[in-house]
Amino acid sequence: MILENFLPGVRHLQNIHPLVIHFPIAFWVGAALFYGLALGLRSDPMARTAFSLLILGTISAVVAVATGLYGGEGVMIARSVREHLLEPHKKVMISTLGISIILAAWAAVSRPFPNKGRAVFLFILLLLLGIMMVGADYGARMVYDYNAGGNACSQPIEFTR
Ligand code: HEM
Repeated sequence: MILENFLPGVRHLQNIHPLVIHFPIAFWVGAALFYGLALGLRSDPMARTAFSLLILGTISAVVAVATGLYGGEGVMIARSVREHLLEPHKKVMISTLGISIILAAWAAVSRPFPNKGRAVFLFILLLLLGIMMVGADYGARMVYDYNAGGNACSQPIEFTR
C-alpha cells in the first residue's frame, strides 16, 4: 500500500530484478575506469577505489543473478522468447558473474591491483564489460520488444526477430 502510493511504478513489476540490475553494471564500469586510471597514472588510491568497485560489482551481480533466476521462472513471456532471449541472457549473465568472481579473487590475493599481469587483468575486465553488454541487450530486448515484466500489452508475444 505504502509502496503503491509513493512508488506507483513498482506496482507494475513482476519481480524485483529490474530494481537491482543497474548496480553491477555501474560498479563494473566504474571498476574498469578506475583500474585503467590506476594503470595509466600508477596511482594507489585509484587502484583501491577500483578494487572496492569490483567487490561491490561482484556482490551486486550475485543479487542480480539470484533475482533473475527467481524472476525468470515466473515472468510472463512466450516460450519462443524464453528460448531465444531469456536463456541466452541467463547464460551470458551467469558467465559475467563467474568472471567477476575470478577477477575479485585475483585482486584480493594481490590487493588492490595484481602486481603481475596488470594489462591482462584489465583486458579481462574490459572483456567482462563487453560480454555484459551483449547479455544486457538480450534482457533489454525481452523488456522492450516483448514486454517482459511489464503490463503495457497482453502476453504472450511470439518471438519474431
Ligand atoms: C549480472 C546479472 C544480471 C544483470 C546485470 C541483468 C541485467 C538485465 C537487464 C539490463 C535487463 C533488461 C531490463 C530493462 O531494460 O528494464 C534484464 C531483464 C531480465 N533479466 Fe536479467 N540480468 C542478470 C541476470 C539474470 C539472470 C541470471 C536471469 C535468469 C533467468 C535473468 C532474468 C531476467 C528477466 C526475466 C528479465 C526480464 C525483466 C524481468 O522480468 O525482470 N537476469 N536483466
